[in-house]
Amino acid sequence: MTTTLQETVAYYNNLDPETEKRVDALLAQMTLVEKIGQLVQLNPFAPFDPDDYEAKKREAEEAGAPFEYEPRLRDDMEDLLRGGRIGSFLNVMTPKVINHCQRIAVEESRLGIPLLVGADVIHGYRTIFPIPLAEASTWNPDLLERASRVAAEEASAAGVDWIFAPMVDVSRDPRWGRIAEGAGEDPFLGMAMARARVRGFQTTGLTSGRNVAACPKHYVGYGAAEGGRDYNTVDFSERTLRDVYLPPFKAAFESGAGAVMSSFNELGGLPVTANPSILRTILRDEWQWPGVVLSDYDAVRELIPHGVAANLREAARLSILAGLDIEMVSTAYHDHLADLVTAGEVPEALVDEAVRRVLRLKFRLGLFERPYTDESLHDAVILQPAFRELALETARESMVLLQNEDNILPLSPDVRLTVIGPLADNRADMLGCWSLHNHPEDVETVLEGLSAYLPGDTWSYQPGCPIRDDRTDGSGIETDIPAAVAATREADVVLLVLGESADMSGEGHSRTTLGLPGRQQELVDAIAETGKPMVCVLMSGRPLVIPRLAAQVKGLLVAWHAGIRAGRAVADLLFGAANPSGRLTASWPRSEGQIPVYYAHKSTGRPAAESGTRQFAEAFKSVYMDEPNSPLFPFGYGLSYTTFTYANLQIAESMLGPDDTLRVSVTITNSGDRAGAEVVQLYVRDLVACVTRPVRELKGFQKIWLQPGEQRTVSFEVPVRDLGFSGLDMQYTVEPGDFKLWVGPNAVDGLEGAFRVCEA
Ligand code: NOJ
Repeated sequence: MTTTLQETVAYYNNLDPETEKRVDALLAQMTLVEKIGQLVQLNPFAPFDPDDYEAKKREAEEAGAPFEYEPRLRDDMEDLLRGGRIGSFLNVMTPKVINHCQRIAVEESRLGIPLLVGADVIHGYRTIFPIPLAEASTWNPDLLERASRVAAEEASAAGVDWIFAPMVDVSRDPRWGRIAEGAGEDPFLGMAMARARVRGFQTTGLTSGRNVAACPKHYVGYGAAEGGRDYNTVDFSERTLRDVYLPPFKAAFESGAGAVMSSFNELGGLPVTANPSILRTILRDEWQWPGVVLSDYDAVRELIPHGVAANLREAARLSILAGLDIEMVSTAYHDHLADLVTAGEVPEALVDEAVRRVLRLKFRLGLFERPYTDESLHDAVILQPAFRELALETARESMVLLQNEDNILPLSPDVRLTVIGPLADNRADMLGCWSLHNHPEDVETVLEGLSAYLPGDTWSYQPGCPIRDDRTDGSGIETDIPAAVAATREADVVLLVLGESADMSGEGHSRTTLGLPGRQQELVDAIAETGKPMVCVLMSGRPLVIPRLAAQVKGLLVAWHAGIRAGRAVADLLFGAANPSGRLTASWPRSEGQIPVYYAHKSTGRPAAESGTRQFAEAFKSVYMDEPNSPLFPFGYGLSYTTFTYANLQIAESMLGPDDTLRVSVTITNSGDRAGAEVVQLYVRDLVACVTRPVRELKGFQKIWLQPGEQRTVSFEVPVRDLGFSGLDMQYTVEPGDFKLWVGPNAVDGLEGAFRVCEA
């Protein structure tokens, strides 16, 4: 394991001497006010004005012109730009506005420093891909890299040069709405996905001729909010920080991410925004990382309600001293930093260091050479057929088949189908929780997808009920369960399309009950009475708690919120034109009371029996009285329309030194009659160490495609130095001793082996 990033120097982290010279020369000319300007990030628009909106809409209608609302700039914006008092924007995606403001910054401010335009492009810009949790469920980093590349192409054509992604927060709590935005519960998988996304965003050669920088977030611990309530307190050990929550950030930096967004949460009593051990000691002293630290939205001001700053001035002082470079949206730096420097409370050298990092990023992005966006590019670049095709491929690979009793799937084309459920004829919710620039008309619904396979007279549709309750849902769907039941009369199979709306996950959208919302379970219960076989396509932004539903349906396909090609992807999978290959990246609990439930838990001094636990059967063990410890569906789990067998587990050397590489192979056979993909997963357990270790940890995975009857030997190579953890002294260590390993299809099954790590 590398200890500094210098060994893996990548573009934005490479302290290129030419760039450094330019940074020094520019810095030398800057006044304190101009320096601070580089540390200020604002949204340039005036607050939304509904009257202005309506008036412009009317104007467009009267002129018969298409309506695209352009918000008004803040009254003071142009002066701020001229005065060099703003360094970057967030979430402005109209090339015209960007160019207008950029022109003022470049041509009318004293030093002509270009603006950096940042934006939330979380799962696509206009070509909306599945939500990130779904994308991670592909277990296909190459696909994520290509999807991120498409997002960067489109965003950069719109004038964006800084993408506030990837979100690399590990989360083990599905109540937390933002679990939708990350890669799930596991740091190793999170590292793989973080690398893929950073590579995808940052590879140069975009159509716009400009580059895009990634911004992994939210550094750090945000996914561990108490009770899964967004923005809530986080308090875990330094060991957990280092072994679980930091690794995906480090992976993103090692792949060249030149910026990071700090998180809203406090950690052990100190909000990250003002936390020097997080922002300075780890990033700068330990990792020698030279990139930019950006606050989250308004987070500097939020030090006041957190209760660590009495006012904005104090908030500014604490943040800059802690190592926060750019303040997003609140104006503590803008209002108070100059005064703090003049009063000697903040050394100017600290401000210089922060500005240096910002300028370095601007130079490396080529903004001084190419500050403007080609306004004609946007329409030509977005939604290209190849992008839509990739969105389809990603959607198909992201969906997870959890049940397939009696091989009810794939459906035969002559099936008589009744489709029931509020999400079957829905566009908006396919777009997921974080797609700022989406257009619902780009989306294919499930009904549209199905119509590619079914002639018009062999199926019918009834929504049954809205997603949420009748009053707040806003879809216009009225509950009519009897009509839904009646519609199933002629059906061979009932296809339920159920789940959450997009706005039930994402930022600020946490839930305490994770079953089917609204009256959907009641709808399923009524249809179950008919005795017709049911298949459910389940859409959500998180793992749901669905033991009842799972017991009722024969087929269960988790489709998440799958983006613009959701409908077609669902249909391709249901009819077998594609074979499901997604695997869960977060455990699905049996009940909310089990949360957090994750595969890499510790053993405890009183572990449950491996065979699982029955109610009351294991007194004084670490179990529940009313529920097994295991989740309903474990991490890594997912079915296919074919079957795979695992055989011949080989461990090349079972005695290894600390500098050796663990070499493991296994033979996988497609033992069914369809082509399909298997995700082969390697887990290890360090049996005895100076501190407790997880019962299993993912250390490798490979997704392979096999024809029926085809056999392949899959090999893993894991450097022994990657099997370590934070020891008693908190230093990364690999201890000699015995390990178990498993190679299998998920976190609970697999062939088992053993090896030993010896002293050097
Ligand atoms: C708050 C969110 O936490 C963050 O992910 C996002 O990038 C910013 N808002 C900017 O929109």
